[in-house]
Amino acid sequence: MESELRYERLAGELASLIEQGVLVHGDRLPSVRRLADERRLSVSTVVQAMRRLELRGLVEARPQSGYFVCRPPLPHREPAARSTPEAASSVDISQRLVRLMQAGLQPGVVPLAAALPANSLLPIAALQRLYAGVARRYPRLLEGGSHVDIDSPQLVRQLVRRSLAWGGPLAADEIVITNSCTEALDLCLRTVTRPGDTVAVESPAYYLMLQLLETLGLKALEIPTDPRTGMSVEALELATRQGGVAAVLLVSNGSNPLGCLMPDDRKRALAALTASRGIPLIEDDVYGDLHAGEQRPWPIKAFDRDGNVMLCASFSKSLSPSLRIGFVAAGQRARAVALRKMVGSGGTSPVTQAVLAEYLASTAYERHLRKLRRAYRDQVAAMQAAVARYFPAETRIAQPQAGYVLWVELPEGIDCTACLTQALAAQVAYVPGELFSASGMYRNCLRLNCGNPHTPAIEDAVRRLGAIFSAVG
Ligand SMILES: Cc1ncc(COP(=O)(O)O)c(C=O)c1O
Repeated sequence: MESELRYERLAGELASLIEQGVLVHGDRLPSVRRLADERRLSVSTVVQAMRRLELRGLVEARPQSGYFVCRPPLPHREPAARSTPEAASSVDISQRLVRLMQAGLQPGVVPLAAALPANSLLPIAALQRLYAGVARRYPRLLEGGSHVDIDSPQLVRQLVRRSLAWGGPLAADEIVITNSCTEALDLCLRTVTRPGDTVAVESPAYYLMLQLLETLGLKALEIPTDPRTGMSVEALELATRQGGVAAVLLVSNGSNPLGCLMPDDRKRALAALTASRGIPLIEDDVYGDLHAGEQRPWPIKAFDRDGNVMLCASFSKSLSPSLRIGFVAAGQRARAVALRKMVGSGGTSPVTQAVLAEYLASTAYERHLRKLRRAYRDQVAAMQAAVARYFPAETRIAQPQAGYVLWVELPEGIDCTACLTQALAAQVAYVPGELFSASGMYRNCLRLNCGNPHTPAIEDAVRRLGAIFSAVG
């Protein structure tokens, strides 16, 4: 683990020298042996760092001569916002999605479909220690508990404390602890909609949000979304002039799949627009802590003056998806959400709540996040470089501002749904673009998971995908 950190650190330092232009195309890097001596690292650690830089397309090895800085990759083109149908659509993606996710989990299939982090990036040992310690110190947490006071005050306090860094504070009495972000979103939707209602979503939208609409009998109104700046506030303004939209549902920081991040003025405008029209805004901030830039972006909730924004998040992407713990800060609808939560699931594991509260109270979470953000940034960059190397020339590649999924747009006419069978036969899974749309848009797009370190096996999987797309393109 420690040596993994060392080679990542060295690769990160050299990458930033190349990115800043201190080392330029054609420069020879110090030899492996010299770097190992000077940095007091083992030769294999330096070689691993060089391998990382090679995979990112930043350096190349020349036989007998060492490592040289590559020509900077041509800046790739990014996808553009698309216009969307004016009418809302009912959703029908769940069955196809479940089949795909099962196929993607078969042994030997390179996991570029589900947006899951690699186990090696998760702080499993720290969590093990905390679970054991909490269960020993607070045995009552394992006994029958209350069905009324279901949220841990310690955890709520930690969430309020954390929110100070992103435009908070949240109010303690608006927070409801949930089993995951998905449960938080589900509770919010159930609270503010009735079957048959229409919900405005990003386009493309995270498929699980579409699945929630599907299971609740809701329709999706797809709003054009800029791959850099997020949902168009102007388009939403037009779409909600006549009423008929029961809620807005979006990811403001690092949306899935585009990775876009709304600038603050848009967040402010969206908060004001939805409040003035009395439309509840359900915001998913699961990637907020995983920002690619320096600053932790604020959620729309930070601009909410009316208690209209329901902020949902979890620790699935930043700590472990298996914790199944998240929360919603539900503003003026907090009591209704809390009641639904109590009746629906009777609470969230008290042991896990205590573990999370202790983890957040220490400095471990921030240290872990710093490392994780660096790893995700490298992994996304490596995936972008690989896609640029192997996919057809006119491919457009998103530039995610948070999180670790990558949206790729292939030339018109390449059908990523049809190509998936071949990709699975070649032992690679991805999510085809049409599953991010209720109306079947984005057939020439796909989403790649960059949650795993970019190993030669992943590089080769991207090469195989590129060959499949190039053959049909
Ligand atoms: C935007 C977004 N929200 C929520 C989730 C799921 O979070 P959880 O596992 O906490 O339900 C994901 C997972 O991919 C996601 O991308």
